[in-house]
Order: sequence, then C-alpha cells, then structure tokens
Amino acid sequence: MAAVTLDAAVHQRQEGESVLDALLRGGVAVPHSCKSGVCGSCLMRAAEGTVPARAQAGLKDSWKARGYFLACVCVPEGDLRVASVDDGAVAGTTIHALDYVTPDVLRVRLAAPPGFEFQAGQYLSLRNSDGLARSYSIASLPGEGFIELHVRVYAEGKMSGWLTRDAKPGQSVTIAGPFGACFYVPGRPDQPMLLAGTGTGLSPLYGVLRAALEAGHQGPIHIVHGAVRIAGLYLREELRAISISRDNVAYRAVVLDGAAPDVETGPIDKLAFAGNAKLTGWRAFLCGDPVLVQVMRKKAFLAGAAMHDIHADSFLPAG
Ligand SMILES: Cc1cc2nc3c(=O)[nH]c(=O)nc-3n(C[C@H](O)[C@H](O)[C@H](O)COP(=O)(O)OP(=O)(O)OC[C@H]3O[C@@H](n4cnc5c(N)ncnc54)[C@H](O)[C@@H]3O)c2cc1C
Ligand code: FES
Repeated sequence: MAAVTLDAAVHQRQEGESVLDALLRGGVAVPHSCKSGVCGSCLMRAAEGTVPARAQAGLKDSWKARGYFLACVCVPEGDLRVASVDDGAVAGTTIHALDYVTPDVLRVRLAAPPGFEFQAGQYLSLRNSDGLARSYSIASLPGEGFIELHVRVYAEGKMSGWLTRDAKPGQSVTIAGPFGACFYVPGRPDQPMLLAGTGTGLSPLYGVLRAALEAGHQGPIHIVHGAVRIAGLYLREELRAISISRDNVAYRAVVLDGAAPDVETGPIDKLAFAGNAKLTGWRAFLCGDPVLVQVMRKKAFLAGAAMHDIHADSFLPAG
C-alpha cells in the first residue's frame, strides 16, 4: 500500500484512493469542494515523489514545476510526501465590502493582496477560517484595488450562508489561485465574441467584457445573461450603459419565466444562438450552470466555433 506523508504523519492510501480522500480519512482538514479536479480548492505541493499528469492538468507551468497538484484527482503510484502551498498561489486577504445585487446574489469585494496576479474571468478558491472552501469567478479587473466576486446565495449553502450571516468587512479570509482559462487574450481585436451565461455565470463574463473593452477590442461582442426569473437578472443598468456607449457591444437579458421590456423569454441555449446561426471564427465564453454550459458548448462548436476558441466554466457544486 502506498503512503502519503504530511507534516511527519504517515497516511496509508487504500487501493485507488486519492491523496485528498486518504488525508480526509486520516482526519486532516484539507480544503476541498468539487472533488473533480476543477475548482482548485485542494491545491497541494509534492515535496517528494511523483504525481500523475492528471493531477496537474490545467495548472500553470510554473506551478507544475514547483510540484503543485490537485489532491482530489491525485492517485500516485508510489509514496508521496506532500505539503501545503505557502507562496503566491495562496494569499491571506480581508473582506472589503459585502452587498446584495439581487435578493439571491451577494457581491463580495476582497482587498487585492499584493502579488496575487489574476485575469478578469478566472476563478479563485475562497477559504474561511473554518477551512471551508468554494470557488468563485472574478468579475473585476486587475488594478481596481479589489477582487469582486458574485456569490449565489443558497438556502442551505455553507459558504454563501457564512458570507451572508457571519462575514463582515475587515474579516480575514484566504484565497488560492487563480485558476482557469476563461479570460480575454488580446491579439485578435476584430474577432466577434459571444459571452453567454446563467445566474452568477455573469461574473466572469462581466470581467471578460470589460477586459476586452479595456484592451481596445473592436469586433462585435454579444453578451447574453440568462436567469430563471427577472429578479435573477443583475448589472442590467451597467450592461445597458456599456452597450449604449460602445457600438460593438450588444446586451441581451433572457428569462425562462416572466416578461418585461428589453427582456426576452425562453431558454438561453436557444435564444443565445438564435441571432448567431454561424459562429465560424467567433470566440465564445460560456459560464454558469454545468448542464447549460455543456449544451451551449456543443451548440457553439456545431455552429462553427473552433474548440480552442470556446472557453467554458461550469459552476460545479461541491462534491
Ligand atoms: C470553476 C467554478 C467557478 C465558480 N464560480 C462561481 C461564481 O462566480 N459564483 C457562484 O455563485 N458560484 C460559483 N461556483 C459555485 C460555488 O463554488 C459553490 O459551489 C456554490 O456557490 C455553492 O456553495 P455554497 O457553499 O453556498 O453551497 P453548498 O453548501 O455547497 O450547497 C448547499 C446546497 O445548495 C444547493 N446548491 C449548491 N450548488 C448548487 C447548484 N449548482 N445548483 C443547485 N443547487 C445547488 C444544494 O441544495 C446544496 O445541497 C463556481 C464553481 C466552480 C467549480
Ligand atoms: S479541484 Fe480538488 S476539490 Fe475541486
């Protein structure tokens, strides 16, 4: 049986067991959430031993070189000595501000810690002092002095419950990351772009939109935000103002249930693609509900967008 060693404590791994599960079974409180290798919450460092490539998939090359890996999808062949990540990828910070943008969406602003480099649209793992970890996408631009997150509030939600009930401005939290490739890369300023997302899936899209405009993107940008009901739409005035002031930006709000001026009724996976029958040469950013993201990803590909031009973040719940 292979072993995992952390802080001189040796934990025997069962056949096929991940490093995360072995440590949790041994009573070690490793931050984690999705348990699928997506959210980044379980980032650790291999101090001795080899981790399989799968456990480092999607991580930055500089992190791979330092031995970082995702413990939930790490099933090494031999023994492994592991350590916590204790440099720039994990940073202590404080809550700067908390306010509701809809009854179900809390805007959380964190002080931007020095050395924590990110792109708008990437996500981070937010950890509270109880070790609870959840991932949230970044809506703000680097240089704004804060990191803005849009948090969907669930009735039984552990992190959203903590943020709404217990967290206060000034309170300390830890962030790990950033992760993901859902961000604007300059270089093709005339390329048309489709940004479509549901609920707080707007958070990374808002970041990508503003990063593209800041970089001088000239091509058409279609941003489509979907919600179940009109009360779930947010940032409407800000997005309307951007679309009025920028000729190349078109903003559409869609809901499944309800009607209002400037709001379309119907499923986002149909409406977002209705006016864009051909997406050949487009870049697509698709975020939010995992099922809808999967459907929209397929539709974008079938409409002609190249796989390397489709960036998607599925908001997987904690596993
Ligand atoms: C890459 C990535 C990026 C993410 N970005 C964001 C973001 O920007 N904003 C954001 O709000 N969330 C985002 N999430 C999801 C987030 O990490 C949490 O999973 C989610 O907010 C719920 O956390 P919680 O602790 O409040 O609820 P939990 O304690 O995890 O869940 C409690 C209960 O809430 C309900 N619930 C939780 N998640 C869902 C769901 N997806 N659908 C239906 N019911 C659910 C269920 O009833 C569940 O039993 C992201 C996830 C990933 C993987
Ligand atoms: S990546 Fe390991 S818990 Fe999400």
